[in-house]
Amino acid sequence: MFRLDDRVALVTGAARGVGATIAKTLAQAGAKVVLADILVAEGEKVAAAIGDGARFESLDVTKEEDWTRAVDSTLGALGRIDVLVNNAAVLHMGCVENTPPDVFRRLLEVNTVGPYLGTRAVLSAMKSQGKGSIVMISSIDGLVGMNAVSAYSASKFGVRGFAKATAMELGRSGIRVNSVCAAGGGPEMTAPWLDKMMPFLEHMQAYMDDRGIPGGVPVEQIANAVHYLASDASDGVTGIDLPVDGGATAGKWIEGFNTL
Ligand SMILES: NC(=O)c1ccc[n+]([C@@H]2O[C@H](COP(=O)([O-])OP(=O)(O)OC[C@H]3O[C@@H](n4cnc5c(N)ncnc54)[C@H](O)[C@@H]3O)[C@@H](O)[C@H]2O)c1
Repeated sequence: MFRLDDRVALVTGAARGVGATIAKTLAQAGAKVVLADILVAEGEKVAAAIGDGARFESLDVTKEEDWTRAVDSTLGALGRIDVLVNNAAVLHMGCVENTPPDVFRRLLEVNTVGPYLGTRAVLSAMKSQGKGSIVMISSIDGLVGMNAVSAYSASKFGVRGFAKATAMELGRSGIRVNSVCAAGGGPEMTAPWLDKMMPFLEHMQAYMDDRGIPGGVPVEQIANAVHYLASDASDGVTGIDLPVDGGATAGKWIEGFNTL
């Protein structure tokens, strides 16, 4: 289902976590995948493990010249770019008074400006093909607010807005732009704050258990949503936010009410 044979997909932040799983999922569906990241050794290893058709490109999403090189190299080797997954991102956890301006700016630079540069870089190829799918990996923190993630939340709301505006601009060129709002990811992203979060483990568990579908969301589910949006199965879909969050943003759960 949702085959991607003969399609070329470029996935940023693919050296680990969600990006690596997205690259594997798209490759399993038949796509030739280009994994891009600043973590060169890790990214090359993931590409080698995927095998046939997978390539690695060293790419810092904040650098326009890196985008030009990665896109030129992909077009030179594979001839087209059908799918761009803007997945690379960085996190900062801290209340607003513990979020210095340079950190706030850095999150916007990687998480919002990065996808903007990536979108610009693939436009000419996708326009000449008359078809393309661009997927932003946003977050539930791009749909609702939460304490301690103001910079991250601003960047993830931003990328979602950028997706909607560009979906309007590019639909007539056959290019769709959508966002996946994930409620989970790889463990490495939150690892630097784990010690500080440990005292609140019980509350973190309650946060996840109060969903329509209690618990965490496996990264494979996020990759499956990207797979759908990358494929022709979603040809009528553009400008959406697809929450893969177990219903976290759908409503409230009140313990006991199911007995009424
Ligand atoms: N981890 C979570 O709990 C969580 C929750 C919701 C949404 N998400 C989103 O899922 C996506 C993937 O996150 P993850 O959990 O796999 O995190 P991760 O930290 O494991 O992976 C992010 C990847 O992006 C790369 N990266 C960072 N800066 C880069 C840059 N300037 N240029 C190129 N690559 C860069 C990193 O090297 C890394 O490989 C992100 O968009 C993230 O915001 C994650």
